[in-house]
Amino acid sequence: MAGLQDKINSLGIQFDQELTAAKVVRDLEKIRISFLGKKGFILELLSEVKNLSIDEKRLIGPALSGFKARVESELKSKEEQFLKEQIEAENFKKQNFDFTAYKTGVNKGSLHPLTSFIEEVEDIFISMGYEVLDGPELESEFYNFVALNVPKDHPARDMQDTFWVNLPNYLMRTQTSPMQIRAMQEKKLPIAAICPGYAFRNEATDATHDFMFMQCEGFLIDKNVTVANLFATVKIFLKALFKKDLEIRIRPGFFPFVEPGFEIDARCPFCKEGCSVCKRSTWIELFPGGLIHPNVLKAGGIDPEVYSGFAFGFGLTRIALLKYKINDIRLFLSGKIRFLEQF
Ligand code: DAH
Repeated sequence: MAGLQDKINSLGIQFDQELTAAKVVRDLEKIRISFLGKKGFILELLSEVKNLSIDEKRLIGPALSGFKARVESELKSKEEQFLKEQIEAENFKKQNFDFTAYKTGVNKGSLHPLTSFIEEVEDIFISMGYEVLDGPELESEFYNFVALNVPKDHPARDMQDTFWVNLPNYLMRTQTSPMQIRAMQEKKLPIAAICPGYAFRNEATDATHDFMFMQCEGFLIDKNVTVANLFATVKIFLKALFKKDLEIRIRPGFFPFVEPGFEIDARCPFCKEGCSVCKRSTWIELFPGGLIHPNVLKAGGIDPEVYSGFAFGFGLTRIALLKYKINDIRLFLSGKIRFLEQF
């Protein structure tokens, strides 16, 4: 019995010491567990009380529950004290925050010019009810060529030098047009979609050619779609992009996946009499497009007797070059900070 009382006394001393040493709420939690937890000191003492006589219990019982109550209340008030101090410290920090302080050496990032340009293009088409689709850059020969009316050994394959990969029938897509077929297979009609993304060509690079560049495919498939819809869409897009009405000019153009096919040129948005952008001609070649070839609709599982559609595929990188008056396409992917900092 005297032993138990001694134990309570020495635990009291230990508790006081630990409490004084505690610095944060987490320290209090540790003390709580070691004194009040399931395997803690107090329950351990309690289990010894069982073996005492009734008289002894009368003395030790209150001593033990008094100690327990002290531990609980002192832990609680210490915790309240810590929380109060924390709030006061935070308030002090807030009150003393100098909003005008200038910190040197902070570099603010910005979007890559191609990224912000794509977002601008997407916003315009979304406002016309188009959805934006994303597709694979590693593409199968079927989607990239065969389904687009370019069978094996067709001379039109020479129009696009291809990066073949070490996987039979796979290549780095040479154009974003394969997304037409993927959309036809996956979506319900009518479909109005654009697909911005990278295309790859196995070509030597120069100021106007890179082996990796961005295109944007666009297409609309429904009943009774005509070339008038294509031309109107291009005009609306150009007006939204360059913030002015631009005259367009239509020339015939050959692309195996459209019939008829066109090259749609626009009046140079930057000059009246000719400048370096339009090579003094006042026209810039912008939009190849046409009515989707019946073979392509069929490859996508659509009946060309019932549905028709238009498609176009413009060079996003190329228009971004024109818009930002950049004189070398290779700068876009060069990662040069001095170039990127200008945007
Ligand atoms: N895919 C073509 C290219 O990369 C561009 C193109 C032309 C896309 C006409 C079209 C189109 O959808 O109708 O050269």
